[in-house]
Amino acid sequence: MNDAPGPELTAEERELLLRAAIRAPSMHNTQPWRFAFRDRTVEVYRDIDRELAAEDPDGRLAMLGVGAAVLNLRVAAATLALSTTTVLLPDPGRPTLTVRLTLGTGGGEGTELAGLFPSIPSRRTNRHPYAERAIAPAVRAELAQAAAAEGARLYWANEDQVRWLQHLAGDADRFEEQDLHRIVERGAWVGGDRDRDGVPSASLGPRPAELSSPVRDLAVDPADRARSTARFEDHPQLAVLATAEDGPRSWLVAGQALQRVLLVATRNGLAASLLNQLVEHQPFRELLYAPSAGPTAPQAVLRLGHGRAVAATPRRPAEAFVLRDNETP
Ligand SMILES: Cc1cc2nc3c(=O)[nH]c(=O)nc-3n(C[C@H](O)[C@H](O)[C@H](O)COP(=O)(O)O)c2cc1C
Repeated sequence: MNDAPGPELTAEERELLLRAAIRAPSMHNTQPWRFAFRDRTVEVYRDIDRELAAEDPDGRLAMLGVGAAVLNLRVAAATLALSTTTVLLPDPGRPTLTVRLTLGTGGGEGTELAGLFPSIPSRRTNRHPYAERAIAPAVRAELAQAAAAEGARLYWANEDQVRWLQHLAGDADRFEEQDLHRIVERGAWVGGDRDRDGVPSASLGPRPAELSSPVRDLAVDPADRARSTARFEDHPQLAVLATAEDGPRSWLVAGQALQRVLLVATRNGLAASLLNQLVEHQPFRELLYAPSAGPTAPQAVLRLGHGRAVAATPRRPAEAFVLRDNETP
């Protein structure tokens, strides 16, 4: 929806949009995005310097994170009763410019998105064991609907598929442990006390007691690897988020869908974590599942359920993300 251009955004509106955007999840909390506010547009850029060359050579995970930040911007705009026109990859000549959002005055994407705003600060990745309690069918349907609203598909795994996914995740863990480049790179982002970016030791959750587990153990540091263990739920509730096609545009679609699913989950009191080692390596990605119809490009594997409260991960100061007029990313 694009309508009357309206006056320039106020400082308060910009601030609200920016603070919402940077609460988005990103792989290893790299926060690989920058924002330029010009008149009534927000341009969203990839921050190539913060991308993971070894773990994410194609920039796919970074683009999912950018998509998640864009969804947060749309939710924040909706709460300000601003409409948004979102153009993905608006300028082929500027590959780091990923999304251009134009803000109008016409009421926004409605109460549906605005209702997710309170969940932005309370959403977090929860790597602790979850209760053995099934997610209500109506909530499962609502989560699938959230993905569909963004042009993606959420496939809930049945019991056999859950076992298969867990088994595959264990194999993927062992596969990537052999890759020194990945491990060294991960060590720079995961572990320790952190007050700006990365995954602090305190957010790793307990070490899974079993080889085949529904959480990804990101620990690299010897002290983190020796942390105490816990038994995770016997019946994890896993879902695969997929898009019809693959490539940068689809990654941005998937990121927005992922974040919409996560915010709807948060609003319903659910915890979530990701088992993305399954989609990071092509051989595993291909083995993931083969639906006979519908979107077939898996972009994320989610674990959802009822979990204990966990602390938020840090973000850099909001100003660090703003591109000044004379800056070119
Ligand atoms: C594309 C993407 C992939 C991710 N993959 C994983 C993963 O495989 N395992 C995991 O534990 N967390 C994963 N995360 C979660 C990030 O580590 C998390 O978002 C980040 O540390 C910030 O913390 P927060 O989500 O609590 O705000 C992923 C996040 C994104 C956006």
